[in-house]
Amino acid sequence: MNKLKIIFLAVLAVTMVTIISCGKEESTNDNQDAYDTADGVRGARLYDHALNELGITGKVANEKSNFYRCKSCHSWDLLGSSGVAVSQTGSATKPAAALVDLMEVRANDDIDEIFEHIMATDGPSFDTFDENHQNEMPAWGTILSEDDAWDLVKFIKETAHDVSEFYDMDISSGQAVFSNIGKGGDAAAGLTAYNANCKSCHGADGTQINIYCQDEYLGDMFRNDPHEIQHKAIWGMPNDVEHIAAGCADAGMMPAQNITDQDIRDMMVMGQDESAFPGAE
Ligand code: HEC
Ligand code: HEC
Repeated sequence: MNKLKIIFLAVLAVTMVTIISCGKEESTNDNQDAYDTADGVRGARLYDHALNELGITGKVANEKSNFYRCKSCHSWDLLGSSGVAVSQTGSATKPAAALVDLMEVRANDDIDEIFEHIMATDGPSFDTFDENHQNEMPAWGTILSEDDAWDLVKFIKETAHDVSEFYDMDISSGQAVFSNIGKGGDAAAGLTAYNANCKSCHGADGTQINIYCQDEYLGDMFRNDPHEIQHKAIWGMPNDVEHIAAGCADAGMMPAQNITDQDIRDMMVMGQDESAFPGAE
């Protein structure tokens, strides 16, 4: 063996030992492990409607579910009152949009902090409803498992979209105004993705499912609700217990879809065509 070879092998050995010991350090960190194995898509569905995703029934919270869905206070775009929910100040049927911006939380807080916030036990209960506290973060720590909470942390920290990649939004008037929906997308590619993934359930023109049986169709959502499309189109939705109970035969659950963010943008552009994707408007 020549000198160079020996030096090379020595460097290689040191590198290997370093890599192995770093790996070891990480695996003794339980929180990091729980985060690494968490499922951000399940987190997206918990964020939409945790009670329905978990199959929890028989609680006061089920009757007041708008006050117990992350998206109701933090919104589909995670931006709270600085996003699409800017005008949502609270009513008998809807909580006020939270002041906290979860996209800032995503950028600034580490996983342990977010986990602890979610697992707090001092908020409003799921067994009673108190309108004086209706805008406060519920006591999730009393009903979520640690795995559920890690799925939510993963969703907030990684899986959730930065909605500015899908559309522009101006909230300066106090109401959200969308423009540039489907940023840079291609309608023809959108139709190919739609036909391959969505048509079998929603129909060729998006009217096969009457959403909530309120004469609203996918076309309406592509044009008016891009903030909700960017979420549900890819992560689906938990079983729609409320609308099924209200007798809506079209209500149900939508499985998560194996599509890309670019597919979503392409479909958003496709869906601006009112004659191809008619709506109620
Ligand atoms: C009824 C409204 C409401 C609901 C429902 C709600 N939150 Fe909150 N959340 C708030 C408010 C208000 C705050 C800010 C004050 C606080 O920390 O309690 C907050 C704070 C947070 C924070 C901490 C942000 C920080 O300051 O670091 C996280 C994380 C969070 N919520 C995640 C969630 C998740 C995940 C869900 C669903 C499982 C959820 N929230 C459901 C109202 C709500
Ligand atoms: C296996 C059937 C199925 C497939 C495939 C499917 N969906 Fe759905 N989708 C549903 C059902 C059922 C609902 C209605 C749930 C409800 O509102 O109760 C729904 C609801 C939605 C909603 C939300 C409407 C609401 O309830 O707020 C959007 C957006 C949506 N689908 C988009 C898509 C897109 C885009 C695709 C293709 C990438 C797709 N879906 C594929 C069954 C499906």
